[in-house]
Amino acid sequence: MRKLRVGVVGMGRLGKVHAWNIAYQIPNAELTAVCSGRAEGMDYARRELGVEAVYPDYREMLAKADMDAVVIVTTSSEHCWQIEAALDAGKHVFCEKPLGVDVAQCKLAEAAVERHPDRTFMLGFMRRYDKSYAYAKKKIEEGAIGTPYLVKATGMDPESAVQETLRYTKTSSGIFLDLGIHDIDLMRWFLGSEVTEVYAMGATFKYPGFREAGDAETGAAMFKFENGAMSMMHVGRAAPHGYHVETEIVGTDGILRISAVPEKNLAMVYNVNGACTECVGSFPERFAEAYRNELQEFVDCALKGRQPGTTVYDGTKSTIIGYATTEAWKTGKIVRI
Ligand SMILES: NC(=O)c1ccc[n+]([C@@H]2O[C@H](COP(=O)([O-])OP(=O)(O)OC[C@H]3O[C@@H](n4cnc5c(N)ncnc54)[C@H](O)[C@@H]3O)[C@@H](O)[C@H]2O)c1
Repeated sequence: MRKLRVGVVGMGRLGKVHAWNIAYQIPNAELTAVCSGRAEGMDYARRELGVEAVYPDYREMLAKADMDAVVIVTTSSEHCWQIEAALDAGKHVFCEKPLGVDVAQCKLAEAAVERHPDRTFMLGFMRRYDKSYAYAKKKIEEGAIGTPYLVKATGMDPESAVQETLRYTKTSSGIFLDLGIHDIDLMRWFLGSEVTEVYAMGATFKYPGFREAGDAETGAAMFKFENGAMSMMHVGRAAPHGYHVETEIVGTDGILRISAVPEKNLAMVYNVNGACTECVGSFPERFAEAYRNELQEFVDCALKGRQPGTTVYDGTKSTIIGYATTEAWKTGKIVRI
């Protein structure tokens, strides 16, 4: 079987998940190189993934490593120049969300993708590759709820990981661009329309570190779409019960809900606390299958010369909306896009 030789750059929380999947879960891919800015990431690659070609510098990896493709999982502000450098070096590119932290960066990435139409480029909006979200999209296309006109979205990181989230927040580009961008992408996808205006608020009630970092612990936003549809989003960094992602799509002939209760599994514990189902605990747990599926799609596309459904333009559009949402929160005004 022909295999795609893949290098991963960035070995933090999610980089390790992607690298592991390429090494052990994607049959037609081979993890041939890793680049990490930190010694711990390089040790992990050697010890757990059996990779010998480990580089501290990205440009060195691009120049020397034996690879056809790069998976970019670095800090968000690094994505666009790394996309450009990899495409210009002749590699296929998978990049984590957000595409960039400002629109000028995203346009550079767009130009690089357009310069290399024979290379596959994919953006990591993995929820589209989760089986429940993919099923919901299919049902909408089949007309199961008529015309969708309202999306209600909740996305909360778990309080159990709040110290890690606080560390990460300083370079995350803010709650709306970093966390809300998944919901922003889903709204555009489900409603089949683009945002024209947004109003938003942010607040910090429990962990002052979010405010001190210039960010918010909780965000709420309302969006209006070109076709008249609407959307409401609630994002948070410290859900006491676990990792909580929930989406509801309302249409003229029905409603679709995904993960209305973010259950860990089908087990229920009956004890002094009552009858309880545990909540899913983290993003790698909730979206384990989606992370595998999206990389499988990327590898298949690169080997077969196809382009995937999540494009560089989805990255720019969602970044524009995430940026406008942050601006709406910071200025207290409705922002028109
Ligand atoms: N799709 C999702 O559900 C999801 C979930 C988490 C994170 N992400 C995205 O993945 C990216 C990484 O997030 P994370 O949580 O793993 O962050 P992290 O801070 O844990 O890891 C980022 C890693 O990148 C490394 N790095 C930064 N610049 C580098 C460079 N120039 N060369 C080599 N290494 C470099 C850092 O040393 C760090 O180890 C972010 O863009 C984030 O938005 C997506």
